[in-house]
Amino acid sequence: MKNILVTGGAGFIGSNFVRHVLGRAPGVQIVNLDLLTYAGSLENLVDLPNEANHSFIQGDIRDAVLVDQIFSDREIDTVVHFAAESHVDRSILGPMAFVETNIIGTVVLLEAAKNHWQGDLEGKRFHHVSTDEVFGSLGPGDPPFSEYTAYDPRSPYSASKASSDHMVRAYAHTYGLPISITNCTNNYGPYQYPEKLIPVIITNSLEGKPIPVYGDGKQIRDWLYVEDHCAAIWTVLVRGEVGQTYTVGGNNQPTNLEIIHQICEILDEQLPQSPYAPHKNLIQFVVDRPGHDRRYAMDISKISNHLGWQPKESLRTGLALTVDWYLQNLEWVNNFRSDAVYARWMDKNYGSR
Ligand code: NAD
Ligand code: TYD
Repeated sequence: MKNILVTGGAGFIGSNFVRHVLGRAPGVQIVNLDLLTYAGSLENLVDLPNEANHSFIQGDIRDAVLVDQIFSDREIDTVVHFAAESHVDRSILGPMAFVETNIIGTVVLLEAAKNHWQGDLEGKRFHHVSTDEVFGSLGPGDPPFSEYTAYDPRSPYSASKASSDHMVRAYAHTYGLPISITNCTNNYGPYQYPEKLIPVIITNSLEGKPIPVYGDGKQIRDWLYVEDHCAAIWTVLVRGEVGQTYTVGGNNQPTNLEIIHQICEILDEQLPQSPYAPHKNLIQFVVDRPGHDRRYAMDISKISNHLGWQPKESLRTGLALTVDWYLQNLEWVNNFRSDAVYARWMDKNYGSR
């Protein structure tokens, strides 16, 4: 790996991944291609270690001419593909952007990799970052998802990610493209845009705004601290087998209400003088998400046994690190709060619930 094209590297996980790699692999050059949609920000890339090895290009993964040029000019040998529309609630309100970016954008990248790498596949890799949501929803007694679980996506978001996974495998099967895929559970940690559950809890609590619980709050997710996810992807790139899929998760399954209570307790400890403590008083039950998946859980034995990867953070330590990061980065929080696009989203999503 010399020249890595990271797509979506100004978003939540992508920016953490860029930081992770630059801190570990000084010989690697990263080209970061990101459209800077509402979810991406150059503020997520301040304080990069080894900045000389990172170049940012604002552009669209659906732009075949641009992608082609990047492959030629930068002699890309590795792609780590994060760029996506990533929020289930937004996919319910407007699925088309998910089809365009997540499916068509992925195929544009696959085409470029196929065309540029043909005849010389040695040392090349197209790594696709995907989600556990492609597997659907578990009943109470069902075993966790694994690499062998049949696909059963239920939201426009998960259906678009499932389609992109299928296209990645189709390029491997049909054209011999050297691919790998990780399907990971819910991430949390620094730089997550506050439309997802954990940053919504933290940032609303800081302002004394309601913490919205969809439905009965007994839905279950498996949560992984973002740095552990980045380490898993890096492990798959370095030690993973070409053509393989690895399921990745944090080995925990709290209900949404349990996680909300844990975060409220951490906030109470860290901000004992807050006028909003105890923060659990901010919890407010709101109308449920349509088609809300009930339970996700992940079997991580393949990546653990074959590649020796394990999550380092427990849910409790990861949540404490996350709350701490948001408290230390109030400027970052205030910047999106003052953004009109963000205000409109809060209004559109929560105003009608
Ligand atoms: P995010 O929404 O924070 O970031 C997505 C990034 O992609 C943004 O920087 C955005 O500007 C960029 N982008 C969007 N459309 C683009 C386009 N057409 N061209 C170029 N860039 C574009 O998302 P995230 O949470 O960091 O997720 C990253 C990837 O990981 C996604 O593929 C997602 O499906 C997957 N994933 C996320 C989670 C999670 O819990 N967040 C879990 C498993 C897998
Ligand atoms: P989210 O962070 O949107 O991730 P995903 O839908 O990809 O799992 O939501 C996590 C869980 O939290 C999910 O069950 C929906 C729920 N949720 C709330 O109860 N309130 C909220 O304000 C949000 C954003 C999510």
